[in-house]
Amino acid sequence: MQSSEKFWDTRAEDYAQSPIKNLPAYHEALARTKSYLSAEDRVLEVGCGTGSTALLLAGLVKHITATDFSSNMIAIGRRKAQEQGITNVTFEQATPFDDIGAQEPFDVVMAYNLLHLLEDMPKALGHLHGLLKPGGLFISKTVCLAEESRLWRVLIFLMQRIGFAPFVNSLKVSELEDGIAAQGFEIIETGSYPSYSRGRYIVARKI
Ligand SMILES: C[S@@+](CC[C@H](N)C(=O)[O-])C[C@H]1O[C@@H](n2cnc3c(N)ncnc32)[C@H](O)[C@@H]1O
Repeated sequence: MQSSEKFWDTRAEDYAQSPIKNLPAYHEALARTKSYLSAEDRVLEVGCGTGSTALLLAGLVKHITATDFSSNMIAIGRRKAQEQGITNVTFEQATPFDDIGAQEPFDVVMAYNLLHLLEDMPKALGHLHGLLKPGGLFISKTVCLAEESRLWRVLIFLMQRIGFAPFVNSLKVSELEDGIAAQGFEIIETGSYPSYSRGRYIVARKI
């Protein structure tokens, strides 16, 4: 098992129990996402964690394939879907580099709090572009560590050294936006909700 996969696997139960850190930011981004979804949409989520967001959005779309490379995260997502009686979310263990749903392209791909964790973000973005229909939407929220205070970056570095933080790509907002555009997307919305939020929310359309 890769070390970052193991990192997330061992934290899955704690992740499921811990409250969302910035609830206003979460709800603002969720409301923005809801405004882009339609009842007939087939949606892919990559890095879904324990599936909280997919399960909240399930009632607005036709189907969500919720994926994560951590088998423990996926197991918790399946359990939550069953408890909530949600049948249109399918949980699969997969990475953003895998051929998911290759037989029919998706209307929407979502990646929340994932892109900064990838060692090869351009490759993942290129692959996800290929899984979308022409005109399909890529909706993401990404921590841009390079925009954070030096103190915060040093803290992350120290936590990584003792195994308490995973790999994090230190991105600037401009690098993130350019990286998405470079893979054949037109950015149609980019912002931080609320303005002090750590994550950059971006909606991009496949050209
Ligand atoms: C910070 S959590 C975000 C979870 C969820 N999207 C959210 O916003 O609450 C990152 C998730 O991405 C998953 N992850 C990290 N790297 C991944 C990779 N290369 N492929 C698939 N999943 C990955 C982790 O297992 C974890 O569940």
